[in-house]
Amino acid sequence: MEVDERIQPGQVTEVVFWKRSIALFRGWDGRVRAIENRCAHRQLKLSLGGVDDCQLVCLYHGWTYDGDGRVVRIPHDLFGRRMPEFRIASFPVRVRYGLVWLFPGDSALAAERPIPEIPEIEGPDRWACRPLSFTWRAHHSMIIDNVSDFTHAHLHRKYRPFDDARLVRCETAGDSVHVAYDTRVGRGRISGLFVDRDRINTNHMRLCYQYPYQWSNTDDKIKHWLFVLPIDERTTRTFFLFYFESLKIPWTAVRIPRAAMDFVLRLANRLLIAPLLDQDRGAVEAEQEGYEVHWDEPIAEINPAVRAFQEVTIRKWQAHLDRLVPQAGARTTPAMQRTP
Ligand code: FES
Ligand SMILES: [Fe+2]
Repeated sequence: MEVDERIQPGQVTEVVFWKRSIALFRGWDGRVRAIENRCAHRQLKLSLGGVDDCQLVCLYHGWTYDGDGRVVRIPHDLFGRRMPEFRIASFPVRVRYGLVWLFPGDSALAAERPIPEIPEIEGPDRWACRPLSFTWRAHHSMIIDNVSDFTHAHLHRKYRPFDDARLVRCETAGDSVHVAYDTRVGRGRISGLFVDRDRINTNHMRLCYQYPYQWSNTDDKIKHWLFVLPIDERTTRTFFLFYFESLKIPWTAVRIPRAAMDFVLRLANRLLIAPLLDQDRGAVEAEQEGYEVHWDEPIAEINPAVRAFQEVTIRKWQAHLDRLVPQAGARTTPAMQRTP
């Protein structure tokens, strides 16, 4: 996954999904392609190379790959041979919601694992939304816990995105955990100015860990999705999409026009949301460090929602292990619990 606007035509970038490096490149035709990030010749990362038209050229000897991972050109002597056939893996890619989505698994299964539907941010009448992406040095499950568990208002006492939260629902259904809080949303000194409390019930918020992602919903007017890209056991890329049906002009009841919302959201992302999320980053990175030292200490968790999130994560990881070693029936050990 990558933010769409970060890959311009003619650019290549490296994306890592669970230690597997993928070269994502955009041809001059505007289409994004994803292939394994290694040259079949000497295993150099192809992301070190460059894009030529709609193909990716390795830095070293210039072997050239198409979007299907085929070597289509070798620009040096072939020693009397015919053009040999080499191919590396390629991955299905889609661009949606300002994000590039790639499917790193068996491409035959790509259609069965649809991208979440977010109708509010598609179509002519869509709500404004600007993706925010960060790399956090923490296991993805800690990040999911962090954004869904509202017991950490203390951390955000400066911005107050939620106050005095009471858990009123916690229910696991299949691979999703639904939680709801009675709380006061967006009462911060600055954020509170933009939220129209006459139109929006800001005393209740629903959240869901919809494995492997997470979303929230305040009165169908303020929403977010968080998509996580696990890089390894202690590194995760986060992609936050915050979207608002409307925001008001501070100290008035006047709604900010849709056309101006994009600009306001860019500003809000930079001035309000990014600094708030940076507090979360600091906390979960410290949690990761703590876990690495004290992983065998018992967990003193009292929020049932956090337990429920962890149960889903562990169950999915266990299913993954069972698929890898079907007969051996590998069991989860404490040291492995913080893995996807
Ligand atoms: S290593 Fe890539 S072309 Fe030789
Ligand atoms: Fe937080």
